[in-house]
Amino acid sequence: MKMGAGRGMIVGLLMMMVVVVAVEGGSREYEYDDALSYGYYHGNCPQLEGIIHRKLHNWFKNDSTLAPALMRLHFHDCSVRGCDASILLNHKGSERKAKASKTLRGFQVIDDIKSEVERVCPKIVSCADILTAAARDATVAAGGPFWSVPYGRKDGRISLAKEAESVPMGHEKITDLIELFQSKGLNILDLVVLSGAHTIGRTSCDSLQFRLYNYKGTSKPDPTIDPKYLNFLRRKCRWASEYVDLDAVTPKAFDVQYYKNLQKKMGILSTDQMLYSDSRTAPLVSAFASQSSVFHHQFAASMVKLGNIQDFLADQHSEIRLNCNYVNK
Ligand code: HEM
Repeated sequence: MKMGAGRGMIVGLLMMMVVVVAVEGGSREYEYDDALSYGYYHGNCPQLEGIIHRKLHNWFKNDSTLAPALMRLHFHDCSVRGCDASILLNHKGSERKAKASKTLRGFQVIDDIKSEVERVCPKIVSCADILTAAARDATVAAGGPFWSVPYGRKDGRISLAKEAESVPMGHEKITDLIELFQSKGLNILDLVVLSGAHTIGRTSCDSLQFRLYNYKGTSKPDPTIDPKYLNFLRRKCRWASEYVDLDAVTPKAFDVQYYKNLQKKMGILSTDQMLYSDSRTAPLVSAFASQSSVFHHQFAASMVKLGNIQDFLADQHSEIRLNCNYVNK
């Protein structure tokens, strides 16, 4: 008994160290990334961040659900061909038309910011940079951490619906997620902390219905759902088109309740809940559940890494789009 408690404490301490070391490692990685820079628009569009901030303030005043929507839009953008605003292109067969993009929102917010930015600093600021900064401001507006955004992304000219189908939808295995993140230069720590974005926002019932009645052909629900929570979800999700909060306890607060929910079998997406059953990710879930400031600090560091994903092969064709919906003529 005594030995067990002692070992538990050591494991706890080790976990804390892993997280702290990883936090520091994360920030080192982006500090010396010279492809993007913090002062990129200081000379030619110093008003940029002010415009984005003011516009978002007005949008969020009327509809606070746009904050999580913009964070997710940024994730989907960066997941395909890097953060190049390819998700915003609005033509037949583009990423935006993919099944995985069906419930994405916030496009009109980016369009509104872009038109003001074009009025003040024409042909200078990319849609990819605007979306990245909007995701940061959305995080802060939701009560999450602030971080400085490095700028200088270009807008891609290629956007293919079939590539967007690789964005995870909640039914993947943890190994799939780890490999996907690794292919973008993100590690397991980034995966666990960025999944913490699900502390706010909502999901369509479509994304979880497979867990509620006939999980993996067993004619039974997913056994990793708490029975009371299962009843609640079954009531809320009579139709695939309904929506339900990702964090059932504190849906509007950017806090560590998301991780606490996983410990109580109240993860809504299967991929969320599995973070707590996989031995590679579970210790990090426990660490974040009990250390709010570590979560906030690491979330900021990993968001910078997410925003720095670039597809260098696409660079020669990229541009500063004039309208985020279309490539330039
Ligand atoms: C790790 C893999 C991830 C999976 C499997 C995943 C999956 C999902 C799914 C299925 C939804 C609900 C979609 C719907 O049916 O409406 C969702 C929503 C959301 N996701 Fe993720 N996601 C992941 C990572 C991320 C990351 C990295 C971020 C941002 C940093 C993020 C931010 C969000 C937000 C904020 C929402 C709520 C959107 C809203 O309220 O409109 N997700 N995610």
